[in-house]
Amino acid sequence: MIYLDNSATTQPYDEVIAAFKKTAFDYFANPSSLHRKGGEVERLVRQARRSIASLLGVEEEEVIFTSGGTESNNLAIKGTAFEHMKRGKHLITSQTEHASSMESFRQLEKMGFDVTYLPVDGEGQVSKDDLVEALTKDTILVSLLHVNNEVGSIQPINELGSIIKEKSRALFHVDDVQGVGKVASDVHSVADLVSYSAHKFHGLKGSGLLVKRKNVSLFPLLSGGGQENEFRSGTENVPGIVSTAKALRLYMQKSQSNVKKLNDLKIKYIEKLEEIKEVVMNTPTKSAPHIINFSVPGIKPEVLIHALEEKDIYVSTRSACSSRTAEPSHVLTALGVSNSRASAAIRVSLSYETTEQELDVFLLELTKAIHKLKEVMR
Ligand SMILES: Cc1ncc(COP(=O)(O)O)c(C=O)c1O
Repeated sequence: MIYLDNSATTQPYDEVIAAFKKTAFDYFANPSSLHRKGGEVERLVRQARRSIASLLGVEEEEVIFTSGGTESNNLAIKGTAFEHMKRGKHLITSQTEHASSMESFRQLEKMGFDVTYLPVDGEGQVSKDDLVEALTKDTILVSLLHVNNEVGSIQPINELGSIIKEKSRALFHVDDVQGVGKVASDVHSVADLVSYSAHKFHGLKGSGLLVKRKNVSLFPLLSGGGQENEFRSGTENVPGIVSTAKALRLYMQKSQSNVKKLNDLKIKYIEKLEEIKEVVMNTPTKSAPHIINFSVPGIKPEVLIHALEEKDIYVSTRSACSSRTAEPSHVLTALGVSNSRASAAIRVSLSYETTEQELDVFLLELTKAIHKLKEVMR
């Protein structure tokens, strides 16, 4: 199998599955229980929290475990809106956010909040002038993706964060689900809230976290037993939490020595793809090391995806959450790509495990599939 859909999800590391299994089997007690078994499990959660906090460079009490990126984004966005609505009802985001943020904003609009969706340029970046102009005394939140999941564009988070802090009292939320361990940034020095999802770094689906800076207040979306410092009630997913800590540690180690290699690999294969005359590249010039996005105008992407799948090669059209809609990608259209090209986009997403040999086979099979399909269409 040649798996090139790592932006949708990554294969869990063996050690992650082992940690999940051991925790689920041996440490099944409720961490809130007062007996010794409960105490043992509570210690495991504490260790995982400590390890994650240290890997991310934040404090333990700033880590809120959630069920993944979607919940983290919902909690950051709606939690801020509900908590701070007395101060103002204006929110800012961009036109190229992940569905989990976009739909949270749409819901808030229906509830009477006013949302500014900043446009992006051909590189997928919002303009600093637009941001400054959009900020008002009523703005309570700016929420932006660090690395776009479809095209790999990078927002200059640190610069934008400094502007927000300098010019307003708004909180700053960053969705770093695709950026962590791939694109270096000092995100926690400028952001008040940062979302992460374990299955994007070889952890398991249904586990993630939101980093919330200590002084930031948030309205909890789940009420109940008061777990996670009152911010996220519900009995902790202990095997998920422990395996997330394991995944993040292993992934960060790989990232340190391999990020440049991954970027070189991406550049090399972008150049090779550009040699195929039917291919039009959609990847911005400055982009994350793991995402390549291109179109083959005139050929439906799902046809190419199924042709490659016949050869045990797996790529995708766009974000997994919206891959079943017939609409052209909202991300590509926001970048100025025509509807027909945006509807013909293919996303190839790499991991630190991806090899040149795999990409050579992918290139060969892609070229063959394009030529065969062109032949049929003649
Ligand atoms: C940028 C981004 N944010 C949020 C999410 C949602 O994460 P999860 O699948 O853990 O809910 C994803 C997953 O596709 C993503 O790519």
